[in-house]
Amino acid sequence: MTDKINELLRRVEEFNPKAAAEIEEFRIKILGKKGELNALMEDFKTVAPELKRELGQQLNKLKTTALDRINSLREQLQDAASDDGAATEDMTRPGSAEQLGSRHPISLVKNQIVEVFSRLGYTVADGPEIEDDWHVFSALNFPPEHPARDMQDTFFIEKNPDILLRTHTSSIQVRTMEHQKPPIRVICPGRVFRNEAISYRAHCIFHQIEGLYIDEGVSFADMKQSLLYFAKEVFGEQTVIRMRPSYFPFTEPSAEVDVSCNLCGGKGCPVCKGTGWLEIMGCGMVDPNVLKANNIDPEKYSGFAFGMGIERIAMLKYGVKDLRLYFENDVRFLHQFDTAL
Ligand code: PHE
Repeated sequence: MTDKINELLRRVEEFNPKAAAEIEEFRIKILGKKGELNALMEDFKTVAPELKRELGQQLNKLKTTALDRINSLREQLQDAASDDGAATEDMTRPGSAEQLGSRHPISLVKNQIVEVFSRLGYTVADGPEIEDDWHVFSALNFPPEHPARDMQDTFFIEKNPDILLRTHTSSIQVRTMEHQKPPIRVICPGRVFRNEAISYRAHCIFHQIEGLYIDEGVSFADMKQSLLYFAKEVFGEQTVIRMRPSYFPFTEPSAEVDVSCNLCGGKGCPVCKGTGWLEIMGCGMVDPNVLKANNIDPEKYSGFAFGMGIERIAMLKYGVKDLRLYFENDVRFLHQFDTAL
């Protein structure tokens, strides 16, 4: 029996498995219910009493050796498996790039315009998108029958008293004049709403940025110089502007501002429709009626105002041909502006 025990001990010590499954197979064969160790235990029952002590110790040693061997082999294989995992990681492989978001072109252009005017001493003013008739029309000298009040242009929320979505950010200028005495120098960016059919060049929601400057002795020449500075900053140093007479209820005189086409340099191309000029904004000297309606003395103060569509400026600056792209949030479009400005 000692020989059998020693023979089994030798096999346990020499056992050298390659996979975890082999260990389990070996364990069942040796230590399992019907395994070789139990067979020896059965034999042990019948040995002579004077041999029991010696053989019992040998059997115990065999059992603990086999258990220890199996456990340590299991651990070794596990370590090797996790080492293998590490070895398959290719440390020289480039990391997977995180997709970074980018600023929307409308934000980029808005920020640039705000920045240009802040250099001229303007601060940003804000106001509500849901407005009343006074702030959008009446305080701005719109006559009661003016077509802009009509259902065609304005989204009314309630009638009498009229509550509506602002159709221009000039309402912020009215709110500024309510709270601030001249000198006033504000720039007002924001969303505006007009009941227009959506097309490549118009949308019912768009963004405007308007400016207001009121102080003693503000002249048309001041306005022209400020807007020329703005145009050069946004469209390039070579840019020139021209002003065409226009009409707004809240300014007198009023003008449309054109910049020289930055694509053809003024020679004429499809973008400027052969004229060499691109219309970018409306402007004018604040109508004395507007100053009066807002408790500012028109004898003492004068001022100018201007307003532009941010989508339009961004279209001209980046050559975007369809305004609807700004609202679709297609990342293929938006990613083109990752490095813009
Ligand atoms: N509020 C005008 C518009 O929405 C733009 C404008 C602002 C024109 C200020 C002149 C002066 O079209």
